[in-house]
Amino acid sequence: MLFYIALLISFSKSCEIKKTQLYYTYDSESDSLTGHYQRSTYDDQTGETTIHEWKENIDGPILKPPTTTTTTTTTTTTTEPKIYNCPDDWLTFSRDNYKWCMKIVLTEEITKNSAQEACEKLGANLTGFQSSSERTQVASKIKLMVATNKDALNNYISQTGGKFWVGAERKKSCAIANSCGDETVNAYEWTDGKTSGTDGMKWQSGQPDFYKEGQKCVYISSSKYQSSRHGLLDDDACAGTDHVDGYICGKSAGSL
Ligand SMILES: *[C@@H]1O[C@H](CO)[C@@H](O)[C@H](O)[C@H]1NC(C)=O
Repeated sequence: MLFYIALLISFSKSCEIKKTQLYYTYDSESDSLTGHYQRSTYDDQTGETTIHEWKENIDGPILKPPTTTTTTTTTTTTTEPKIYNCPDDWLTFSRDNYKWCMKIVLTEEITKNSAQEACEKLGANLTGFQSSSERTQVASKIKLMVATNKDALNNYISQTGGKFWVGAERKKSCAIANSCGDETVNAYEWTDGKTSGTDGMKWQSGQPDFYKEGQKCVYISSSKYQSSRHGLLDDDACAGTDHVDGYICGKSAGSL
């Protein structure tokens, strides 16, 4: 980039203007000044300039433009993975790279399909359990909750206990009983779209039995007197409502 600087000394005498000029050219790339000297007379009536003296390559610097400092600000934006949290009234479970939120809902006589629809209204699905820890924590929470709910408490202290729908279904490929090998790991799958594997799928003894090939849905049991039932899973008829005390919804905190 080139800048032109001119020093001008002028004298006026009638119509003549005498000018002594130093022209400097500043080259910012080489940070150098080169210039020429010029003495001239300008006639303001004729508009003519008469050059009397001209010298090339005058050494600089006589006038050096102030050093301009170019400050380059580099803004580095690091994108941190966003951690979403569960709503306040949902239980939070940390999974590998997201938080899973569960809500235990106490309600009487609800079919599995209606429970799933109710979860969908909360932006969720009936939940699966990714691990035994998730399952047992939910079982403990259910135990506390039923203590304050008369009807659920009645089931809890009854012999069979109460049922809470969860998000698991019999695989279509296992529509025939005992056609899938070990039924405890092969026959049912989580349906919430996120939960995987069978670590959190712990059944009551003798379950799942796919009784009369009609039990395609799954509940977690809440039972005071039968520790072989409390917090464990069982398959049941999806349309059944007997002893049902509620359901458990699940959603990823990330999809809020
Ligand atoms: C519900 O589950 C289905 C899979 O069955 C999944 O595609 C969907 O994303 C899930 N919805 C939510 C809110 O997690």
